[in-house]
Amino acid sequence: MDRRDVLKLLGLSAVAPMAGRFGLVGCSEVGPGVQSLQDGVPRTVQQLAPGLELALSAVPEEVSLLPGEATSVWRFRGEVVRGRLDALRAAGESYLGPTLRLRRGERVRIRFANGLPEPSVIHWHGLDVPESADGHPRFAFPTGVEYVYDFTVANRSGTYWYHPHPDMRTGPQVHRGLAGLLLVDDEEEAALGLPAAESELVCVIQDRSFDEANQFAYPESAGMGGGPAGRGGMGRGRGMGGMGPMGMAGMTELMNGVLGDRVLVNGVPNFTAPVEAGWVRLRLLNGSNARTYKLGWSDGRPMTVIGGDGGLLERAVSRDFLTLAPGQRADLVQDLSDLSEGARIRLRSLAYPPEDAGNVGMMMGATMGMSAGPAHGAALDVLTIDVRGRNTRPLRLPERLSEPGPGWDAAPSAPVRRVALAMGQMQWTLGGRTFELEGVSPEETVEAGSTHVWELVNVPNPMGMAMAHPIHIHGRQFRVLGRSGGMPDSGLRAGIVDEGWTDTVLVLPGETVRIQIRFSEHPGLYLYHCHILEHEDLGMMRNFRIV
Ligand code: C2O
Ligand code: CU
Ligand code: CU
Repeated sequence: MDRRDVLKLLGLSAVAPMAGRFGLVGCSEVGPGVQSLQDGVPRTVQQLAPGLELALSAVPEEVSLLPGEATSVWRFRGEVVRGRLDALRAAGESYLGPTLRLRRGERVRIRFANGLPEPSVIHWHGLDVPESADGHPRFAFPTGVEYVYDFTVANRSGTYWYHPHPDMRTGPQVHRGLAGLLLVDDEEEAALGLPAAESELVCVIQDRSFDEANQFAYPESAGMGGGPAGRGGMGRGRGMGGMGPMGMAGMTELMNGVLGDRVLVNGVPNFTAPVEAGWVRLRLLNGSNARTYKLGWSDGRPMTVIGGDGGLLERAVSRDFLTLAPGQRADLVQDLSDLSEGARIRLRSLAYPPEDAGNVGMMMGATMGMSAGPAHGAALDVLTIDVRGRNTRPLRLPERLSEPGPGWDAAPSAPVRRVALAMGQMQWTLGGRTFELEGVSPEETVEAGSTHVWELVNVPNPMGMAMAHPIHIHGRQFRVLGRSGGMPDSGLRAGIVDEGWTDTVLVLPGETVRIQIRFSEHPGLYLYHCHILEHEDLGMMRNFRIV
């Protein structure tokens, strides 16, 4: 389906001028004579033609994932309207959106047409963009409308991604299939001579359970495709009395985060990749709603990590296993030259005690005498590498892979703010509050370009219940200064990589994690939240304002 078909489907026309034909909302810099409705105010903005223009849409589709019935998914589709054709690569036969490959410093315009039966908006996870391009839930827009994003790629080379961000509907929309990779290239990385694109395996890791009809199982699936069922079903802050048709089991599953009983990689079950013996680069995204993986190779070889959320580390680090929380990325290089033709090794998620990630669902489920579905910490197969052929290209990684750049050095005089991660009355809270669409408190207000230290404190409730929360901050990569507290024998701690720039940090039960962040120069209202998407939807999210 190309863009014209999508527009036809939406009852729209691709013929200019479009402004009169349907609502065009958003962004800072829109074409000449095109009316933009920002904050409800029509205006015409001077056009500086970006070199690259992409069209994305989100549409329902049927894909064949398992033998038998097709699975109904929601999917991003896209095409290059103007500029480099290699800026967009369609994903394979599954549900993922196209992979966007952008360059640092490049100006890009992305038109996003909503073909879903409910409001949506795209967020570019990890990118430092103007407020109007960040995909805040207050910019979510309905079916048949197009939103124009316009920004310059400021980020370093790295593995980023995009996904929807509507209020209370992010979990179900991502679960239904809406997600895609966004890779940024820059010169610093190109100079390293890392294994080239053809020896690079880019993997989106997601867990899903299927029902008997091969459909993705999500606790509110009855409302899926039929608009924002979440509101009526379990309205945030309503307490248990207002839970409606969802019921206790569904609520428990949401509080725990929705887990699947099998892993799909790039949307494919039992993912197997033919790889040449030699050096391979593996770029991983945990695009799961709630599951934290403890990734390890089946033959026990160490994981060599060269990058994280915000691009290359200063130096490569090695781990026996790698802890990857929802939203996080990892960049690895692995020497597979010892493997012979036909050899197979598997990447697995190793078992860990469920209470290392969180026991809330289990305890609540047990208390109420019902099963809470798949548990955290289950051993799962992730992918299989099937050795085919050999490449003898040598890899000489320099001692120093990258310079962290400005904002990295410790700022001892930075103001310190304590942010409690806690469980309130059947809801998760952030700094003692839950999400308000426009609400922001004085301690959530920071100056553009200022540096702050936030202490993320994971506070168990009086019954000792706590969950690991991957805390994500929009707009800027930050630095982890240190961790303290928590369970001394945590099965996940040793696999955490805190060495580089990151935008999502896992705070284990009982832990305090200190981060240092130099806020963006772009003023406006941005988000920070737990990246367990059900926690986010339940309100474990807040605004911060950059002034
Ligand atoms: Cu990847 Cu606000 O999220
Ligand atoms: Cu984000
Ligand atoms: Cu959480």
